[in-house]
Amino acid sequence: MTKIKIAPSILSGDFANMGKTVEDVQKWGGDYIHFDVMDGVYVPNLTFGMPMCRAIRKHTDLPIDAHLMIVEPEKYVEQFCDSGADIVTFHPEASKDVAGTLAKIKAKGKRCGLVLNPDKEVELILPYLDQVDMIVLMGVFPGFGGQKFIPSVLNKIERVAMLIQASGRAIELEVDGGVTEQNAAEMREKGVTVLVGGSSVFRSPDPEATIEALRG
Ligand code: DX5
Ligand code: ZN
Repeated sequence: MTKIKIAPSILSGDFANMGKTVEDVQKWGGDYIHFDVMDGVYVPNLTFGMPMCRAIRKHTDLPIDAHLMIVEPEKYVEQFCDSGADIVTFHPEASKDVAGTLAKIKAKGKRCGLVLNPDKEVELILPYLDQVDMIVLMGVFPGFGGQKFIPSVLNKIERVAMLIQASGRAIELEVDGGVTEQNAAEMREKGVTVLVGGSSVFRSPDPEATIEALRG
């Protein structure tokens, strides 16, 4: 079995000290830096954008996993790639041209992916299975860290894992939102390959041990 990757979400990090936050993630053994971009339109919250991506890029060699919770991601994906993001994912219903936006990310030599909210059908991503490098299943409705995992997403993990296997492509399957040391094992059993951990990692008394526990 392949080793599960852990992507700590710096949304739960120290905003006054983002350089140190990503250095800590790397020191603790995280695999990706999960970077939550919110525009106050697609989700009712605002976070950070390309300048922050560029700023943290200098503080870590870990891949930056940029999760765009924004409308019309097609306007910004290339700038995120140029700002040091390695993986760029977005929500298909927020884009007027999903295939074209995925192609823009690939043309920059980066990995691309689509994110499904808990109420979105798996069918939404089927047309793009031959293009994506990552599928992200939200365990919560996007907008805020620290929410509780919605259990019905577990069945979706299994379904998407089977679709990925049938595709024969090396697509990563990430779960984002509400991941804890208590529920991670079930997600791993259902076929997840990347787990995002925001509050579970940053509020842990021992983040390194929590990352190891999430990895299983
Ligand atoms: C939610 C974000 C998540 C969030 C996860 O809108 O996309 O990445 O940071 O935080 P936790 O792990 O605390 O649910
Ligand atoms: Zn996220």
